Amino acid sequence: MLRTGLVLAILVSASAATAAESVSVKEGLRIATIGGCHDCHTEGFAESGGQVDPAKALMGSHVGFQGPWGTTYPANIRLVLSRMSEDEFVSYGHEVKTRPPMPWFGLHAMTDGELRSIYQYVKSLGAPGEPAPDYVKPGEAPKTPFIVFAPPQMPAN
Ligand code: HEC
Repeated sequence: MLRTGLVLAILVSASAATAAESVSVKEGLRIATIGGCHDCHTEGFAESGGQVDPAKALMGSHVGFQGPWGTTYPANIRLVLSRMSEDEFVSYGHEVKTRPPMPWFGLHAMTDGELRSIYQYVKSLGAPGEPAPDYVKPGEAPKTPFIVFAPPQMPAN
């Protein structure tokens, strides 16, 4: 009995390691969840307590983030990826740099397999839809709601 349990434990841990390497839509959803992609790129995600609305998943947001860089909008990732092949996305993921608060360095830290899983997950989501609003330069007035990223002034002591 004990020996069977040990063999099972080894088999289970071996298959878990294999699963972590595999490229799939399911894995893409997992990586997108850990990477926080939906937090910014899926409208209503945070408000719903982490439910992904398939009709809005990764289609970007019209609520901007304003800071010294101007006002940026989480892109419609379905649309961005509809213009590239899986191989192009892997190269893009290693090189992309954007304005804040997009954590582009998180994409740089991903393996090729993780980027491929994200690509396949995004492609499984359906029609690309409309682009997010355009970037607005510092000092110009955005036409949509936005969140101000500015630390409060700390009192002098
Ligand atoms: C904190 C919010 C935030 C998170 C988290 C986030 N993004 Fe973004 N993302 C943005 C914003 C804002 C932009 C637009 C940046 C700009 O206009 O320069 C953007 C842009 C992008 C773009 C388009 C860049 C381009 O070439 O124009 C892609 C692709 C993207 N994000 C993918 C992802 C993926 C994949 C994840 C998860 C691993 C993720 N983002 C997580 C906010 C976020």
